[in-house]
Amino acid sequence: MLPILRVPDPCLRRVALPVGAVTDELRQLAADMLETMYAAPGRGLAGPQIGVLRRIFVIDTTWKEGARSPRVLIDPELIAASEATHTGIEGCLSIPGLPVVVTRPAEITLRWTDLDGATRTEHLTGVEAVCAQHELDHLNGRLIIDLMDEEARAAASPELQAMARP
Ligand code: NI
Repeated sequence: MLPILRVPDPCLRRVALPVGAVTDELRQLAADMLETMYAAPGRGLAGPQIGVLRRIFVIDTTWKEGARSPRVLIDPELIAASEATHTGIEGCLSIPGLPVVVTRPAEITLRWTDLDGATRTEHLTGVEAVCAQHELDHLNGRLIIDLMDEEARAAASPELQAMARP
C-alpha cells in the first residue's frame, strides 16, 4: 500500500517524465499501484498521485462489478480522440468527496508500452476511455477541478476554486 497524495500537493501539478525501459523495479511499482488502487478503492491511479513523477498509470474498470481486469499503461500517448463526447461524473482519489461532471471525447486511440515492454495500440470506449483520459491528465498535472463548468466552479470551496486552472 502506497500513500495517495491529495490536493494541494504540488506533485499533482507536475508533468511526469517518460519511464523508458521496463524493469523489475517498475513491475513491482505497478503491482503496488494496483493494490493501492483496489484498496482505495478506485478505478485508476497514476504515478504522480503516489509521488512518482513518471508516466505510468493503472486502471481497472470492471473490478467494482466483480471481475478484475487490471491494466498497466506505460508512456501512454494519445493518438486520436473522437469528436463525439461523453459527459459523466468523475471522482478522484486525490480530491476525495468532490464528484465533478466532466465532458471528454467518447472514444480514444491510445498507444503505450505494456509490462512486457511491448508497444500496444488500442481503441478505447466507454468507461475505459473515460478512466484512461482521467489518468493521462494526471501525468500532465491536470485535475478534474480544471474541467469543472462555471456552475460547479462557483459551488466549489474557495480553496478548490483557487486551485483550479482555466
Ligand atoms: Ni484522479
